[in-house]
Amino acid sequence: MDHFHYRDGEMFAEDVAIAQIAAEVGTPVYVYSASTFRRHARVFREGLSALPRVHLAYAIKANPNVAVLRVLADEGYGADVVSVGEMRRALAAGMKPQDIVFSGVGKTRAELAAALEAGIGQFNLELEEEGVVLAALAHERGLTAPAVIRVNPDVDAGTHAKISTGRKENKFGVPIDQAPGMFDRLAGLPGLDLRGVACHIGSQLGDLAPLEAAYARIGELVAELRAAGHGISRVDLGGGLGVPYKPGDVMPEPAAYGAMVARVTQGWDVELMFEPGRVIAGNAGVLVTEVVWVKPGVANPYVIVDAAMNDLARPALYDAYHDFVAVRPNGEKMTANIAGPVCETGDTFAMNREIDKVVSGDLAIFRTAGAYGATMASTYNSRPLVPEVLVEGERYAVVADRIAAETILSAERVPDWLQK
Ligand code: LLP
Repeated sequence: MDHFHYRDGEMFAEDVAIAQIAAEVGTPVYVYSASTFRRHARVFREGLSALPRVHLAYAIKANPNVAVLRVLADEGYGADVVSVGEMRRALAAGMKPQDIVFSGVGKTRAELAAALEAGIGQFNLELEEEGVVLAALAHERGLTAPAVIRVNPDVDAGTHAKISTGRKENKFGVPIDQAPGMFDRLAGLPGLDLRGVACHIGSQLGDLAPLEAAYARIGELVAELRAAGHGISRVDLGGGLGVPYKPGDVMPEPAAYGAMVARVTQGWDVELMFEPGRVIAGNAGVLVTEVVWVKPGVANPYVIVDAAMNDLARPALYDAYHDFVAVRPNGEKMTANIAGPVCETGDTFAMNREIDKVVSGDLAIFRTAGAYGATMASTYNSRPLVPEVLVEGERYAVVADRIAAETILSAERVPDWLQK
């Protein structure tokens, strides 16, 4: 459930009319609902309430806006970060270093050192050499790095290939059968406190079965590691729960997920860690856009909007569906293609879709744009970087400015030898 709804025929974000934000900030603009973030954070936590020890690390890659992070810090969430840039955001939002997990297949030595110095709570190791380097960096500094090994359980998550991470041919994690040997070799290193294992098999999962299969394998690994004499106090179960994008999509509820986790992890006697991203952020944001033209097409008209693939990349990258509705629908429908102004055919949000009838100048929203939306935006075609607005009740604020094309241009220069 989210807080984007029609009131007297007009789309609101909580108690603020979308049209009012568009008039003030311009379009395209992302609008987030703080109450929806809070609700999702609570529902996810409640879904896990049967579990004895839980640590929640919001995967901030989904939506790293610092105001959003502040809301989630308020809700007691830590962060899963994948770069020092993300770590700095989590800290800037008031999250505690010990509540931060550092994931990622390509953490550089400089990033490992910066995260050690910041005192973050857990490093999720992706390969043995990373563990050796981290141990040395920590030891040199008189520190001990808390770490787990991310294993690749070789499970097909049944999601889009580009966001699937748990099959053995993917770049992520250590093959599960190699994890015990790696554990033996790393566990004794000074500077490293190896506490357990992690896995994350993919994103936008519509079915709990692959997660259950992965977690069952992790359970066997935990037993094997303990039998080999290792102390295992943490298991990080990653993120991945899907959200509904299309009307009629049915996704597993956090409560069903929690029940499955409780069943599979019974008796593990560890602190369970979770890295939810999309399930917290997805339906907490929309992308507001204005119709520039309705251009006649061969089969259907093209609704050309002022948002493009550089603002919301998911349709171009993953053929993702984002619901498109008018801010002030007039009750009529049309079948249309929806596209942005960028000069490539991939800049298409939908083909042959039945939508609210719109004409140029009308406002519309793409729903479920709170996760992997603004954070994946670029300035392709020298378009400004899209701004973000956070609403809570009747209040709203611009929480990220529109970065003008001129500002971006001002960071570039023509070298001496090309100056006339
Ligand atoms: N933990 C790790 C280690 C991850 O790699 C990810 C997402 C998450 C947690 C959070 O997963 P979530 O709960 O959001 O499914 N840009 C793509 C999604 C990429 C997901 C990357 N990793 C999209 O727009 O669909």
